[in-house]
Amino acid sequence: MNHLMFYCRPGFEKDMAAEIQDKAVALECFGFSRVVDNSGFVLYECYGESDAEKLARRLPFRELIFARQMLVMFKQLSGLDLQDRITPIVEALEGMPEFGELRVETADTNEAKELSTFCRKFSVPLRQALRSAGKLSGEENDRRPVLHLFFLKNDTVWLGYSYPNNNSPYLMGIPRLRFPSDAPSRSTLKLEEAFYMFIPVEDDEYRLCSGLTAVDLGASPGGWTYQLVKRGMMVTAVDNGPMAEALMETGQVKHVMEDGFKYRPTKKNPYWLVCDMVEKPARITHLIAQWFRDGLCQEAIFNLKLPMKKRYAEVEHNLAVLKEWLTELEGDYVIQAKQLYHDREEITVHVYDERKLARRRSGAFN
Ligand SMILES: C[S@@+](CC[C@H](N)C(=O)[O-])C[C@H]1O[C@@H](n2cnc3c(N)ncnc32)[C@H](O)[C@@H]1O
Repeated sequence: MNHLMFYCRPGFEKDMAAEIQDKAVALECFGFSRVVDNSGFVLYECYGESDAEKLARRLPFRELIFARQMLVMFKQLSGLDLQDRITPIVEALEGMPEFGELRVETADTNEAKELSTFCRKFSVPLRQALRSAGKLSGEENDRRPVLHLFFLKNDTVWLGYSYPNNNSPYLMGIPRLRFPSDAPSRSTLKLEEAFYMFIPVEDDEYRLCSGLTAVDLGASPGGWTYQLVKRGMMVTAVDNGPMAEALMETGQVKHVMEDGFKYRPTKKNPYWLVCDMVEKPARITHLIAQWFRDGLCQEAIFNLKLPMKKRYAEVEHNLAVLKEWLTELEGDYVIQAKQLYHDREEITVHVYDERKLARRRSGAFN
């Protein structure tokens, strides 16, 4: 088999397929996608022998926008005996090297909810069996490939592997975040996930720390502001809508009732610009580009709300426009984009200047 498998948000399979088509061709790995609407995954069948393997190593997972996980699929087992699913799975691994980790997974769809309970339970005896058969190491943080079992039905499973240096570290590619009970909106999890996704933890002490300032455009009722306040920042929250009282009582928030497209900092520029305004992607892209052009912030995280159709094309267009603006500026700008688990019809984008960040990093450690 020469298939790559991608997990994605159900409903975004066509966008995932368009993206992989584009990026695999750029690496000269030609093939075609098999797409089932709302299945939560896409299969990319490569024409060239070992191209799936090549892509799994060379296509940077971090740069994929719609993928939650990327793996090489090597076996499909169906019609499993429900009394003993373990034996054929162990047999299917004949000739394969030892894996570093096991993940028993399923699609992130309503239909598969029951299956995911089964997967959780099944992983315990299977892990034991694989260890006894010498197919799974017992060590923590093993850097060998991760074995994925993707259950389609209770008697049908696909086997694949991913590389720990080029995959999502989470089961089903989904980070499990707990909703903080005192946060004013569920949107708070979007910014929290974005911080996990884009900011290495070791950078938190100088990129997500107290003493920094932030502007939050489209802030009401305050889910994103909450994340910034929690990290000790002073926040200017721009929105005509109300902000949660508890946030205002922290003394860390200044509420400005103004149009987010017109607002600009008057005294000191903030470190962070975050923006969750519901608007056309082109307008948001233009606004963010202006902030960087005018040197008004150091880092930005913002959402692009996507249209109903041709969402990958829309994303690529806007990211290209932004890139063009940033190339004109002095600096070494990085743009990262991802459809996060907590995103719905949107993606999250992160922009920063690598040169400025390097200076900040060396300042922080000298
Ligand atoms: C998705 S909500 C933001 C939720 C917020 N991030 C949170 O976590 O609670 C979008 C917000 O953008 C605001 N908004 C839309 N257009 C705006 C504009 N032109 N200027 C300021 N705020 C705007 C709306 O009032 C709304 O409160």
